[in-house]
Amino acid sequence: MRNSNLGYHRLFLLIPAVVVFAASFVVAQDAERPWMNSRLSPEQRADLVLKQMTLDEKLALLHGNGMGHVPQWQMPLTYLGNGGAGYVEGVQRLGIPPLAISDAAYGVRDSGANGRYSTALPSNLGAASSWDPQSACEYGEVIGRELRAQGFNMTLGGGVNLAREPRNGRTFEYAGEDPLLAGTMVGNMMKCVQAQHVLGDLKHYVMNDQETGRMVVNAIISKRGMQASDLLAFHIAISIANPGAVMCSYNRINGDFGCENSYTLRDVLKKDWGFKGFVISDWGGTHSTDKASAAGLDQEEPMAEYFGPKLKEAVQAGKVPMAEIDDHTRRVLYAEFLSGIVDDPTQKSVVDIEKGMEVAQRVEEKSIVLLKNSQSVLPIDPSKVHSIAIIGGHADLGMISGGGSAQVDPPGGNAIMPPGKGATHWQDHIWFPTSPLKALRAKLPNAKIDFNSGTDANSAANLAKNSDIAIVFAYQWISEGMDLPNLSLHENQDALIEQVAAANPRTIIVLETGTAVTMPWIEKVAGVVEAWYAGSAGHKALANVLVGEINPTGKLAISFPMSEKDLPRAVIPPEPATSQALDYAMHYDEGPKVGYKWYETENKQPLFAFGFGLSYTTYEYSGLSVDPSAKTVRFMVKNAGQRAGTEIAEVYAKLPNGADESFKRLVGWKRIALAPGESQTVIVAIDDRPLQTFDEANNRWIFTPGDYEVLVGPSSNNALLTGRLSVH
Ligand code: BGC
Repeated sequence: MRNSNLGYHRLFLLIPAVVVFAASFVVAQDAERPWMNSRLSPEQRADLVLKQMTLDEKLALLHGNGMGHVPQWQMPLTYLGNGGAGYVEGVQRLGIPPLAISDAAYGVRDSGANGRYSTALPSNLGAASSWDPQSACEYGEVIGRELRAQGFNMTLGGGVNLAREPRNGRTFEYAGEDPLLAGTMVGNMMKCVQAQHVLGDLKHYVMNDQETGRMVVNAIISKRGMQASDLLAFHIAISIANPGAVMCSYNRINGDFGCENSYTLRDVLKKDWGFKGFVISDWGGTHSTDKASAAGLDQEEPMAEYFGPKLKEAVQAGKVPMAEIDDHTRRVLYAEFLSGIVDDPTQKSVVDIEKGMEVAQRVEEKSIVLLKNSQSVLPIDPSKVHSIAIIGGHADLGMISGGGSAQVDPPGGNAIMPPGKGATHWQDHIWFPTSPLKALRAKLPNAKIDFNSGTDANSAANLAKNSDIAIVFAYQWISEGMDLPNLSLHENQDALIEQVAAANPRTIIVLETGTAVTMPWIEKVAGVVEAWYAGSAGHKALANVLVGEINPTGKLAISFPMSEKDLPRAVIPPEPATSQALDYAMHYDEGPKVGYKWYETENKQPLFAFGFGLSYTTYEYSGLSVDPSAKTVRFMVKNAGQRAGTEIAEVYAKLPNGADESFKRLVGWKRIALAPGESQTVIVAIDDRPLQTFDEANNRWIFTPGDYEVLVGPSSNNALLTGRLSVH
């Protein structure tokens, strides 16, 4: 007893001494390493540490060290990369951590090969259909947390290329066709990834709007067209996310490759927009040393072919000025301080599966778009519907996901393969173990729910005929590294749908697609539900929508054309043989007229318009007034139906005729939750960035004076209210 008291006594004496020692250590540390003072700005910290660095230490930050799972991309330090896409050495003696980089478009990649678990959120295009920046943020938080838990401190997510070409195999990784919507959604997503202390990235800068010939294709577009479309989407996303990095793209833009393009990198991104982070090349997208460095590329990935020894030689030979190396290095350091990865190093931990599932389900519930609902076939009414035929799409086992470097690995491997046989090739068609059949059975325990694989259309039609309703699950797989030849459902799914719909007029189609699809059968089916690539909890979200526990709110972030003939290009010209590859060009003569802007100016009706989506209730709009000084619009929305719901009210504006780009563009929106019968006055701020046009001659944005037509309604082609905004 005495001894132990004495022990405590000694301990109390010891504590102040330890505190004093620790404090003096910290002071000494701070004096030696002033950049570790988190009260200084990221710029100040980067400047301070830069002064201490040798040339070799600087150069080490400007290139990758290989890519773990790719045999031809191995380097001595590749093994340190934590099984991710890239690894950049830090400067240990100065407390600058290495970058452990992973792909993470809709969840963290490569968890299978690494023996880890990752949540798959709905596809990025799907989540954009929620028009909900808060959901985008929660999406980003899940990804950021799971990256850190798995030991990564930098993401390669954040695709913000516009859906100029809906056959683009990466459309599911992007956020649709409108710069304001895409920029806002991806910006919020990345802001919240980075808030988890993961260095954020936006990609693929820029005009990487198709995959065909992606390593060579020359995207030809006027500066004005590019500024008002893809560049505007990036600018908006960057202004929201303030990401540490931007990834330059594989393709060429008006002649020069994305990673050595002085117009897009140096002039626009860094000079005009004041981007202070670093430009990272797409994997294998660096083509030169001096040219790329001068144009504004800061870091080559994943190898060191041009920004390793060759960059050092170029510096020593005076071909690349030291100031350029300092600028590249400062940018990497700035991004590390900005994102918090220096002050808060990653610590591996167990991924919070439950939290991921909860967010994945909630986001999907807001992303599902109800496209058709004749005679209120939906929601399923258990008092009337006693038997349901579930057909096709492997709905007994799961739901499909998008491929390529965005692929998230499902737990247990590919759900449609025998256990353990889940192939991991980046272009395998991967189903998650999210069976809509099981989810519906759980929701409707008293209904007789039967499954037919749909491989034999006659037997599927037979089951449909003998059921109260039929639900056909149709899918479309897309991936990085390919474009679709057309927007038809493949594998005879159109024929299957026709036959089932002929057998039962109460047929509902659930689409699991990565982009738009054509629907030759649209008049024959009663309902269409677009579920996108639905993620780890997609089946539960879908079942909730089908039975009406969730009232759908999603609206399309991409137009669905009637036919490919209505697109700016009826076909994507094939990539030429390697010898002529450098002649391969895409002339984007439509300029800023992407998606709905194109259909409007060409006077073509889409199958489903941008911004379209139904609900189980109906909404009424009234009383528009425009406040020109505050640049706001005010109107009423009423829930005129029997169910609570959330309406996304959309605001568009048309430029005065003098602007010669008089087509409408989205300038704002609001999600409004309304109880049955409830009305609300809504005020929406008009974002004036899409209202301006780019003056190429003077490199500036201008307002065309005159009267702008303001259009308010539930979709891009349904203006229920119109008004005027005068700009002088
Ligand atoms: C893709 C990028 C990806 C990178 C690393 C490239 O092929 O275009 O989006 O981040 O690979 O996996």
